[in-house]
Formats: sequence, C-alpha cells, structure tokens
Amino acid sequence: MNRREFLGAGAAFGASLGAGRALAQAANSTSTTGGMIGVPFTAVKTVRFGVIGTGGRGSEMIREMLSLDGAEVRAVCDINRDAALTAAGKIETASGKKPEVYTSGEHDFENLVRRDDLDFVYIATPWDWHVPMAVAAMEAGKHCGTEVPAATTIEDCFKLVRTSERTRRHCLIMENCCYGENELMVLNIIRAGLLGELIHGEAAYIHDLREELLRNRGEGLWRRLPHTVRNGNLYPTHGLGPVANYMGVNRGDRFDYLVSVSSLQKGLEVYRDANFPADDPKRREKYVEGDMNTSVIRTARGRTIVLQHDVVDPRPYDRVNLISGTKGVFRDYPPRIYLDGQPGAEQFTSIDAYKEKYEHPLWQKSGEMARKMGGHGGMDFILLYRLAECMREGLPPDIDVYDAATWSAAGPLSERSVASGSEPVKFPDFTNGRWEQPRGWLAAAM
Ligand SMILES: NC(=O)c1ccc[n+]([C@@H]2O[C@H](COP(=O)([O-])OP(=O)(O)OC[C@H]3O[C@@H](n4cnc5c(N)ncnc54)[C@H](O)[C@@H]3O)[C@@H](O)[C@H]2O)c1
Repeated sequence: MNRREFLGAGAAFGASLGAGRALAQAANSTSTTGGMIGVPFTAVKTVRFGVIGTGGRGSEMIREMLSLDGAEVRAVCDINRDAALTAAGKIETASGKKPEVYTSGEHDFENLVRRDDLDFVYIATPWDWHVPMAVAAMEAGKHCGTEVPAATTIEDCFKLVRTSERTRRHCLIMENCCYGENELMVLNIIRAGLLGELIHGEAAYIHDLREELLRNRGEGLWRRLPHTVRNGNLYPTHGLGPVANYMGVNRGDRFDYLVSVSSLQKGLEVYRDANFPADDPKRREKYVEGDMNTSVIRTARGRTIVLQHDVVDPRPYDRVNLISGTKGVFRDYPPRIYLDGQPGAEQFTSIDAYKEKYEHPLWQKSGEMARKMGGHGGMDFILLYRLAECMREGLPPDIDVYDAATWSAAGPLSERSVASGSEPVKFPDFTNGRWEQPRGWLAAAM
C-alpha cells in the first residue's frame, strides 16, 4: 500500500482513535518536505498562553482559557490599559497568578512574543493587526492563532504561510464555528455517508451589526472603516470554514476560483442617518461596501459553494451552513435534514433524531462544560479545549496555516471579482500541491 492509498483507507475507516493517530503519523512522515501539514506540536504539560487584544473577543476567550485543565494565561497585551488591567485582574482572581501586562503602545506586543514562557500566542485585535502580530510571534519561535479573518490581502495570506513554513511554527485561524455542535455533527453525518457524494454547499455571515459598527467604542472604533474602502466579503470564514471542512478542502479538494457580485450599499447609511444628528462626523462617511455580497466558489473536484455577507441590514443571524450531496441535504437555522427516500413528502425533518447517534466525540466528551461556559453556544470552549488537547498530546492541529490563508483569501478575491464586473478569480494554491493528500479533518479525535 503506498502512502496515498494508506491515507485513503485511513479516511474511510478512520472512525477509531487508533486509525486517527496512524493517519496523523503518516502525514507527519512527510513534514520534512517543508510544509506544515500534519506537523505535530511538541507535547507540553501545561499550555501557556499569551493574549494580544483584551477587548470583547480577547477577554471572552481568556475566560474560557482559564476554565481549561492544563492551561495558563501568562501575559496579556492591549493598547487600552484599562482593558488589559481588567483582564489581568480576572486572570489573577481565577488562577491566583498575576500575568505580565504589556500596554506601552501599538508595538508592545513585540515584547510579549519574545517572552520565553509562552507556548501559544492568541491574537484578538482588529483585522489589520493580525498578520504583523502572527508573524512576530512565529519569528519569536511561538505557535500562534489569530482571530478571523486571518488576513485581508492575498500578499498577507502568503506572508503567514511562508513565515509558518520557514519558522516551523503553526499559525492557526481560530475559527470557532468549525467546532459548533451542529457543524461537528454534520461532519459525522457526512463521514457516515448519509449525504452521499458532496455536490454543493452554502455559507454566510448574515448578522445585523449596524449598532455595533456605529458605536464609539469596541468594534465601532475600527470595523466600520473597511466599509468605506472595500467592497466584497469582509468576513468570509465563519460560514466558509465549516463547509470547507465538510468538503475536505486542502485535504483532497481545493478552492479553484470564485466569482463575486455586490449589491448596492444602503443599510448602514440609512441606519446612521436615522440615528445620528446631521453634525455628527459619521454623517460625512461614504460607504462603498455593498450590503449583500454573494460569491460562488468552484472547487477542483467540481463542487460549488455560495458564500454571502451582509452585516448592515435587519436580518436574523444566519450562517446558512448548507451541505448537499447525491443522497440528501442538511441546512441550518434551524438545523434540519432531508434524505433521499425518506418517508412522507419532500420535506426537511428535524435533526433531533440524529443527535444521539452522530454527536461528535468532542461534544460527547466536553459538551456539558462547553454549554456551561456558553461562548457562542459552547463552540468557543470546544475550540480551545481541542487546541489544548493537541498541544498537550503532541498532535498536529486540526486547522493549519493553509486553512487560515485559503479561507481568508475569499475576502480579497471577492473584492477583485466585484471590481472587475464579477470576473472569475483563481485561488492561489497555498499548499503548493499538497492539497491532494486526503486526510480526515479532526481524524485524531475520532
Ligand atoms: N470568532 C468570533 O466569534 C469572534 C467574535 C468577535 C470578534 N472576533 C474577532 O476578534 C478580533 C477582535 O475583535 P473584538 O470584538 O474583540 O474587538 P475589540 O475592539 O473589542 O477589541 C480589540 C482590542 O484590540 C486592542 N488593540 C488594537 N490595536 C492593538 C495593538 N496594536 N496592540 C495591542 N492591542 C491592540 C484594542 O485596544 C481592543 O481592546 C477581530 O478580528 C474580530 O473579527 C471574532
């Protein structure tokens, strides 16, 4: 059996822990080629985190980190001294240990990443800071994870990949939605063959952020600016990450090209004009980001994905999370399934009947704690729990720098397509040909 056949067989029969580990080890055996696919962490007893950015997201993730077994938060950094000190106080209260605090300006993170007592740097800052911070962390010999999207230009996507390969440090995208209860259950349902051969997916980030975007604090200080200079999908990965995992993107398939179209812009402007006086400086802003951006991605194996983004209109939250194949379809919000030949009319049925049989092992193991912690329905805890598990057991991470680059690239590529009248735009192959190796996502946990 050659390696490729072995990996194929491993994916087919990888429902046991043993097969999962064998799969990871097989992938590791080629890690000397320079890529970061399947490269295991060096096992550590305790995962020592440093966190850059202690705003809304960073402080929430610190709360979840402190609930993990075998994890510590050793250092925090923020340009907002109050935010950093508040986070540090909570860490001390919860763990009894005072973290080091870095608040001396926009580049003080460079001092945090140089510490010699950190295993992982978590980056939860505004988008434009993700890449310089991740690069600095890797250059200083630290594994890192960045909030989403990892990067906003193709050049920066390549920068993450090349720095990770050169320094042999992982750069993960902390895409919590990949660890959602439904997303992981659907992965199991797909693995069990219930949906047949996959054909099509739909993903979205539809979230009414109008109030948030126009605030004078938090994300309002930076997240509205891109709406004045960019027109495309600003936040592609919450929807796209899980669908990419279903389809085995970078694990036997890859994104080939996309076409993208943006609607007119209106929602943010109308909301602003209705809520802010005529002399408010915000009234002078000119938004260029179309309200609804729709991209269609085609994969190398011929599958299609519809990917949408709208954060400025009054619509209930929706990531769509649809995946369909030759035998059936799953669609979220609310979660429902339809399988070919099921009794009755052609109607979706509730997912409830599948929950017991297909609940993912990670949720079986830690679902109770995840629900108690609560972050985004528990997915935030499962993401961190799994990261700590991989680092403590010396496993490769589930999500790597190639995923960070590929999923994030959908943002800038959509802008290019929109600007050219919806011409097709090719995805770069960040894996340099390694995408053809089939390997199970989360195989080691199965
Ligand atoms: N995965 C999720 O579910 C999720 C949810 C919310 C936000 N996010 C992402 O998390 C990131 C942060 O978002 P947020 O909501 O916490 O925003 P925020 O504005 O509340 O927090 C960002 C923090 O970064 C700090 N900061 C800015 N520049 C810095 C620098 N040079 N050095 C140190 N600190 C700096 C700010 O002072 C602020 O406290 C964004 O990438 C966002 O897209 C992800």
